[in-house]
Amino acid sequence: MAGSDRLVDAARAAREHAVADFSHFKVGAALETDTGEIITGCNVENASYGLTICAERVAIFKALSEGKRSFRRIAVVADTASPTPPCGACRQIIWEFCGDIEVIIANLEKVTTSLQMSALLPLPFDKRLL
Ligand code: THU
Repeated sequence: MAGSDRLVDAARAAREHAVADFSHFKVGAALETDTGEIITGCNVENASYGLTICAERVAIFKALSEGKRSFRRIAVVADTASPTPPCGACRQIIWEFCGDIEVIIANLEKVTTSLQMSALLPLPFDKRLL
C-alpha cells in the first residue's frame, strides 16, 4: 500500500515536532485531502494541561483554516506496540469534518490497523440532529 506509506511517513515526521513536555507521549497525524494533499499535525501540550490539543485536531484545524473541506484518510502515529486510536474528542471532530474516512493507525515501525470512522464512532452526534 504505497499510498498509505506516504501518509504514515508524513505522520511519523510530524510526530517529531510534538510539544509533549508533560506526558512525553508524542503523536503525529497526517490528513489527506481529496486532491491528495497532505496536512500534518502533532500534539501540543502546555502548563494548563487541559488545554492540550491532540495531533489529529491540529491537522484538521490546520486544513480547515487553509480552506480544505474534503478529506480521504488520516494516519495517526505514536510510539506504542499496540495501535493508539484517536481519543473521543478527536473522533467527534474527525467525524464532523471528515465524515466516514479511513483511519490508519501506525507505530514507528509498521502500520497496525486501518479502519473506518463509522466503526470508531458508531451512533455519532452531528449536525443532522440539530
Ligand atoms: N494524544 C494525541 O495527540 N492523539 C491521540 O489520539 C491520543 C492522545 C496526545 C494528547 C497528549 O498530548 C498526549 O497524547 C497524552 O495523552
